[in-house]
Amino acid sequence: MAETVTITFDGKTYEMPVVEGTFGEKGIDISTLRATTGLVTFDPGYMSTGSCTSEITFLDGEKGVLLYRGIPIEQLAEKSHFVETAYLLIHGELPTKEELDYFNYHVVHHSMLHESIKNLYDGFPNNPHPMAVASAVVGSLATFYQNELSVRNEREIEITVHRLLAKLPTIAAYSYKKSIGQPLPYPDNALGYCGNFLKMMFSTPCEPYEVDPVAARALDVLLILHADHEQNCSTSTVRLVGSSMCNLFASVSAGIYALWGPLHGGANQAVIEMLEAIHEDGGNVDKYVEKAKDANDSFRLMGFGHRVYKNFDPRSKIIKNLAHQVFERIKTRDPLFDLALKLEDIATCDPYFLEKKLYPNVDFYSGLIYKALGFPVPMFPVLFAMGRLPGWIAQWKELQADENFKIGRPRQIYTGKSTRDYVPVQNRI
Ligand code: ACO
Repeated sequence: MAETVTITFDGKTYEMPVVEGTFGEKGIDISTLRATTGLVTFDPGYMSTGSCTSEITFLDGEKGVLLYRGIPIEQLAEKSHFVETAYLLIHGELPTKEELDYFNYHVVHHSMLHESIKNLYDGFPNNPHPMAVASAVVGSLATFYQNELSVRNEREIEITVHRLLAKLPTIAAYSYKKSIGQPLPYPDNALGYCGNFLKMMFSTPCEPYEVDPVAARALDVLLILHADHEQNCSTSTVRLVGSSMCNLFASVSAGIYALWGPLHGGANQAVIEMLEAIHEDGGNVDKYVEKAKDANDSFRLMGFGHRVYKNFDPRSKIIKNLAHQVFERIKTRDPLFDLALKLEDIATCDPYFLEKKLYPNVDFYSGLIYKALGFPVPMFPVLFAMGRLPGWIAQWKELQADENFKIGRPRQIYTGKSTRDYVPVQNRI
C-alpha cells in the first residue's frame, strides 16, 4: 500500500501521500493541504520544501554524492568535457558521436554577438561589475530574437539553447575587455569552448596568443563541476521566472542576478577577498578561525558550509586537486593558496566546524584557480554562471515540459497590521 502521512488538525485527520525518489528519499505531497485543511506550510528558506520532482541531478548531502543524470561528478570531471556534459544535462543522455558533433557545431557557431550589442557595452559606466553586464546583455538577447521566444516551440527553444551556450562566453569576455579598455575581440570557433573563451579574454590584436591546454582543461573541469546543483537559489529563480512562461533569455538573466550574491555564486569572490584580508593582516589563520566561531562576530569563513552538503562537497575535493595541478604548471606559489590549505587544515579539525558540519565548498578553491589562470576577481561569479548555464537550461526545459506545470506562487502568513482606516495627512501624528 502506498505510504501516507496523517495530519490531525481541528479535530479532523487528513491523509497526505508520500512521494518517493529514485534513491528512497521521501517527501509529503501537500499539494491538496490548503484546499482540504485551509492550512499552508511555513518554511522560511525552504529548508524542508521540495519544489518539484526532477530527473536531472541527484545529490546526497550526507554522503557527499553528486550525480548528473545518474553519472557521478567524479567520472564526468575526469572523462567528459563541458559541451558534452551540457548535452547530457539538457537532453538526459550522453550524446552519440553524431549528436555531439551536431550540438558542438551549433554551440560553437552561434558565438558571435549582433554588432549592435556592442553599443550596449558603450552605455555602461566605466568598470561595471561583469555580473551586472552579463545579466543585462543576456536579457537583452530577447530583443534581438524576439520572434523566436516561444516556450512551447521545440525548434525555437533549441536555437535559443544554442545561442545562450555559444554567446555567454563572448558576453563574459566582452564585459572584461570593456572594463580594461581593450578592443572587443571576435570569437575563434576553431579553438573549442574554453580555448576560445581564454583567447577572447586574454589575447590582444598586437600579439600572438596560444591557448595553454592545461588552462583550458582546468577551466573545462571547473565548468563541469558547476554545471548543475538541483534546486539552489539561482536555479529556483530560473524555474520561478520560467513558470510565468517567460522566455529562456529572461529566465537565465534572472538566474545570473540570483547567482551574484555572496551567499551563492559570489562566494568565490568573497573567498579571495577574505584570504587577501588575512594575508594583509599577517596571515594569522587562527585569529580568523576564532572570529568565525565567535557568535558576536558576523565574520564567516567564506567557502565553508553548505545548505545541503553536511559531510563534504565532492566538487571541492576535485577542485583542490585541480588547484595543485594548476599551481604546479604555472610554477608560482600563491601565498593565498598556502593560506587556504592552512585554513582548511585548522578548520576541518576544529570542534566548532565539525559539530556544525562545515566543510570547504565548491567556492573555496575555485577562485584560487581562476586567479592563477589570470581572471580578475569580479569575473569569478561570471565563470560560475557560464558553468551553471546548462543546468539552468535543463531545469527550465524540464519545468516547461512538466505535465503538472503551474506558475510558481508561494503563500505567506501575514503578520502585519490588522484592518484600519486611512488617515488624511493633516491628521497624522
Ligand atoms: N563560518 C562560520 N560559521 C558558519 C559558516 C561559516 N562559513 N557557515 C555556517 N556557519 C554557522 C552559522 O553561524 C550557524 O551557527 P548557529 O547554529 O550557531 O547559528 C550554523 O553554522 C548554520 O549556518 P546557517 O547559515 O544556518 O546554514 P545555512 O544552511 O542556512 O547556510 C551557507 C549555508 C549560506 C552556505 C553558510 O554556510 C555560509 O554563509 N557560508 C559562507 C558563504 C559561502 O561559502 N557560500 C557559498 C555556498 S556554496 C554555493 O552557493 C555554490
